[in-house]
Amino acid sequence: MTVPVPGSVRVHAAGAWPGAAGLAVLAALREAAAAGPVSLALAGGSTPVPLYRWLAAREDVPWSRIDVFFGDERCVPPDDPDSNYRTARKTLLGPAEVEAARVHRMPAERDDREAAAADYAALLPPHLTVLLLGIGEEGHTASLFPGSPALEERERRVVPVTAPADPPERLTVTPPVLEQAARVFVLATGQRKAEPVARALEAPWAPDVCPAQLARRGTWLLDRAAAAHLSRDTVAAVSGEAPEAP
Ligand code: 6PG
Repeated sequence: MTVPVPGSVRVHAAGAWPGAAGLAVLAALREAAAAGPVSLALAGGSTPVPLYRWLAAREDVPWSRIDVFFGDERCVPPDDPDSNYRTARKTLLGPAEVEAARVHRMPAERDDREAAAADYAALLPPHLTVLLLGIGEEGHTASLFPGSPALEERERRVVPVTAPADPPERLTVTPPVLEQAARVFVLATGQRKAEPVARALEAPWAPDVCPAQLARRGTWLLDRAAAAHLSRDTVAAVSGEAPEAP
């Protein structure tokens, strides 16, 4: 795989981040919806919550053209506090009244995880329109963790993994899904993400060590704290604020 060309980095003050990041994602959804059906894969974790709440309050999200998927899911019931689906349902899908038929939950609670992964892969469109991702402190994205065999997966688009995180058992999309998505947005806020963000965007290419590098070509939507370790020439001056001068 060739090293992707760096995408764009947009930095905003913490208080402005949910709205600024939300506007970027909304613009991509609206542009895509004008051309046809849209597939949106949601990120897990807690970072996206303020953005999800912001989107849920908007009247101009083309939900009638959007099918919602997930980039990864923990192997817990859908009403478990650790479920990425539960977080999305509470903060976005429920409040926005997204039609249940358009929400494609990753059935990670099934005992047969290989079958669950294969069934979900069959549901995924060939190219996701918009893929939202987060980044972990050690550089993981979705549930692709450093050193994971899933990082070498080139055929299957969803696989079961055992992560060095709680809960450990998960399903995740694989690198081909990240590479084939039309638009990738990486969401990162807070000082704990400054180091992994800098490694993902500026360190030598080593996605087995820093899987979030697989999203290097995406649009990175950061607050100032998460952008704090980036060199100034990494940050696009196009939109958002440059990180504080070093
Ligand atoms: C998950 C997510 C994962 C998440 C990062 C960041 O299921 O945990 O898909 O990739 O985006 O771990 O999590 P926070 O946003 O909670 O820091």
